[in-house]
Amino acid sequence: MNILAFESTCDETAVAVVADGRKVLSDVIASQVDMHTIYGGVVPEIASRKHVEAITGLADRALTDAGLTKRDIDAVAVSYAPGLIGAVLVGVNFAKSVAMALRVPLIPVHHIRGHIAANYIAHLDLEPPFTCLCASGGNTLIVDVRAYTDMEVMGATRDDAAGECFDKAARVLGIGYPGGGPMDRLAKDGNDKRYTLPRSHVDGCPLDMSFSGLKTAVLNLLHNAEQKGEPLNGPDLAASFQAAISDILVPRVMEAARMKGYGKIAIAGGVSANSRIRCDLEKACKISGDKLFLPPLSLCGDNGAMIGSQGYYEFLAGNTVGSTLNAYATRDVGRG
Ligand code: KG4
Repeated sequence: MNILAFESTCDETAVAVVADGRKVLSDVIASQVDMHTIYGGVVPEIASRKHVEAITGLADRALTDAGLTKRDIDAVAVSYAPGLIGAVLVGVNFAKSVAMALRVPLIPVHHIRGHIAANYIAHLDLEPPFTCLCASGGNTLIVDVRAYTDMEVMGATRDDAAGECFDKAARVLGIGYPGGGPMDRLAKDGNDKRYTLPRSHVDGCPLDMSFSGLKTAVLNLLHNAEQKGEPLNGPDLAASFQAAISDILVPRVMEAARMKGYGKIAIAGGVSANSRIRCDLEKACKISGDKLFLPPLSLCGDNGAMIGSQGYYEFLAGNTVGSTLNAYATRDVGRG
């Protein structure tokens, strides 16, 4: 079954063709990062306009790259929540029109479920149930993936997402936007014990997380150093910062996995590209005996293939919609 899939929830317009949920026939992305870099963050209005400009051409290219024509498409999938509402609407309306014109089913896909499904493309042996840490620019969740379309949030951030924390810290350090990649590279030669940064916990909710205090601590460190005229060591600060993020995320996902006992852990979302988090999880899984599934770096960020993959399993579960499909800025991953 060939699914034409659309993703436009933030600052990447992405279209892919995926066969039977696991085989990527094409996967094209138009990134808007250069445009938003000027402002140091995503400007929602610009994001929506750029999606409108890119989506038609990308859909044509996705078909050409797959060596298919419109007649070979069996269904259309689209990421319909959560995200920047104007941006999500572009993909939803475009996908609706394509499904209607081709007279094929339309499949709504929750963006986070898509990130989780990136692992199905990379690991053909991975099947639910498993525990998944989903960390991106807008969301940080620990999800109990009971089945392909049956999930429950076990823990979540109470404030900022981990990716947002990376982006804000990188902005004050002046190392670029989005900040996760540059921070990861800067940290390579750093001493992770040089700066003391907080590892927050939420009273009574051991799997919940908070990143706003860490963000403020980095800001305060920079301001204090500036006032005293003391130079800060960039690589050491980046390494200490990454260690703090990893120390918040990794023990929680390990605890969630222990509670469920599936023996399988996966990670997903842009922040799952982080080398420190990947390394710490590998070490923790060696001790616990859990099997760890890491997505390749190319599938960590937003892409269309992950939507096509999850779309297949949503279709099998009967989750298709008509032209009434709406876009949502927020939505529980458990609701789908
Ligand atoms: O999943 P994604 O592409 O978009 C959303 O759905 O939000 O995630 C983007 C986030 C950004 O905050 C970016 O800084 C972060 O992923 N990111 C990283 C790394 N690469 C990207 N964070 C930490 N380490 C990285 N290597």
